[in-house]
Amino acid sequence: MRWHTTAPQRAAQRLLRRPRLRPTTRPARPAEARPATRLHPPGHRPRRIRPSLARPRLPGAGASFRISPVMKFSTRADRIEPFYVMEIAKAAQEMARGCADSDTPMIFLNIGQPDFTAPPLVQEAAARAVQDGATQYTPALGLPQLRERISHWYAQRFGVDVPARRIVVTAGASAALQLACLATIDAGDEILMPDPSYPCNRHFVSAAEGRAVMVPTTAAERYQLSADKVEAAWNAHTRGVLLASPSNPTGTSIAPAELRRILDVVRARGGLTIIDEIYLGLSYDAAFGQTALALGEDVISINSFSKYFNMTGWRLGWMVVPEAMVPVVERVAQNLFICASTVSQRAALACFEPESIAEYERRRAEFKARRDFFIPALEALGLPVPVQPDGAFYAWADCRAAAARLGVQGSWDFAYAVMERAHLAITPGRDFGTFETADFVRFSTANSMEQLQEAVRRLQRLLA
Ligand SMILES: Cc1ncc(COP(=O)(O)O)c(C=O)c1O
Repeated sequence: MRWHTTAPQRAAQRLLRRPRLRPTTRPARPAEARPATRLHPPGHRPRRIRPSLARPRLPGAGASFRISPVMKFSTRADRIEPFYVMEIAKAAQEMARGCADSDTPMIFLNIGQPDFTAPPLVQEAAARAVQDGATQYTPALGLPQLRERISHWYAQRFGVDVPARRIVVTAGASAALQLACLATIDAGDEILMPDPSYPCNRHFVSAAEGRAVMVPTTAAERYQLSADKVEAAWNAHTRGVLLASPSNPTGTSIAPAELRRILDVVRARGGLTIIDEIYLGLSYDAAFGQTALALGEDVISINSFSKYFNMTGWRLGWMVVPEAMVPVVERVAQNLFICASTVSQRAALACFEPESIAEYERRRAEFKARRDFFIPALEALGLPVPVQPDGAFYAWADCRAAAARLGVQGSWDFAYAVMERAHLAITPGRDFGTFETADFVRFSTANSMEQLQEAVRRLQRLLA
C-alpha cells in the first residue's frame, strides 16, 4: 500500500525531522546558565540531539501574525525546550486527520493519559458544585475536607500517617513540582535526576534558576538513581534529588531498599528528596507499591488526580511536604495560583467514596491486563522491554533491531516511520534525556485492549 502524503503529514514530517536536520546554532552560554549538566560514563559520547528551540510551524500557524524583531524574551524562557511529547501529539493529530477516513485511522499510543474518564459519582459532584454555585476560591492550601480525605487515603491504602496539615492541594502534579522547586531551589543549585526521566522536571528546576543534572541510568538499576550514583554525583552545588517512582517513561520503581540508601546519602549531606509518586496508585507489584512518605517526614512527595483517578484535564494534584515547608509553599501558591480549581476539588471528594475506589481498582486491573498483553507482544516483534514495568502504563522498548528492519536509524526516525506507515503514534526517547534515549521509544498502554491488539497487528505487518 502506498501512503498518500498530505500537507499535515508533511508538516509532521518536518517537525519530527527538525532535530536531525537543524542542530542548534545558538552561541554557547556561560556554564551557570546552562539548563542541564549530563553525566556520562567514561568513553560515552552521546549523539547531540537537542533541537532548535524554534516552535514548529504547522500549516496555518502564524499566518497573519508577526513578532516584532525588537521584542525580547527572557533567557529563562529560552532555556525551556518544548515538551516534545505534546509537540509530537500535535503532529500526530495533524497526521490523523489525513488518515481518519482510511481503514487504518491513527491509534494514539503516545500520550500518558488514561482513556477512562472520572467515574459517575465524581462527575455528579462536579455538576452539583456548579449548580450550587460552590465555585469561589478555596484556601491556597486546598479545601480542608479534601486534604482530610487525602490524609485518610494514605492511612487506608498505605498504612501511613500523613496529617492533613502537611498536604497541599495543587493544580495537578505540574503545579506541585513547580512549587516544590520554587520553594527549595536557589540560583545555581543542582538537582540530580535520572536519565531518562519526565521531561518537564528539568525545566521546572531550570525555571527556578537551578540546574538539572541528568545522571545516566541502566536497566540493571531499573532506570532509577542508585545510592552509589547519587554519592558519586554529589558536589558542593548539589541541593538534592528529584525522583519518580514508578517512573515515566519506564514504568519502573525504585527498589525500597535502594530508596532507603538514597535517602541516607541525601540526608547525610543535608540535601532534599523530592519524589514524584503520581503513578503510585497504578502499581502492580506489592514489592514496589509503597509510598516514600513511610520513610520519613523530610520527604517531599508529589501526587495527582490525573493518572489513578483518571482526571487529567481537571488539573488537580497534591503534594505532601515537611511541616516547616507548609507556610513557604502556601505563600508561593497564594501568589502564583491563588488555589486549585474549586469545582475539581469538590468533585475529587467523591473519588474516595467506596463506589469510586471500586471502579478505580477495576481500571487498575485493566491497566495491568493491558501491560501483560502488550509487553510480551512487543518483545515477540523484536522490540524488547529491558525491565518489566511494575506500575504506570508505559513500555520503554529498545527499537534498534526494529529500526534496522525498517531501514532507519534511531528512535526519532523509527517513531516517524511507525507513525507514517502504520498510523501508530508513539514517542521517541529523546524527550526523556540523552543517555541511550535514541535507542528507545515509549509506548503508552493507556488505550483500550482492542486498540492495543490492532496496534500489535499493524506492527506485525510493518515489521514482517
Ligand atoms: C511523572 C509525571 N509527573 C508529573 C506529570 C504531570 O501530571 P499532572 O497532570 O498532574 O500535572 C506527569 C504527566 O504525564 C508525569 O508523567
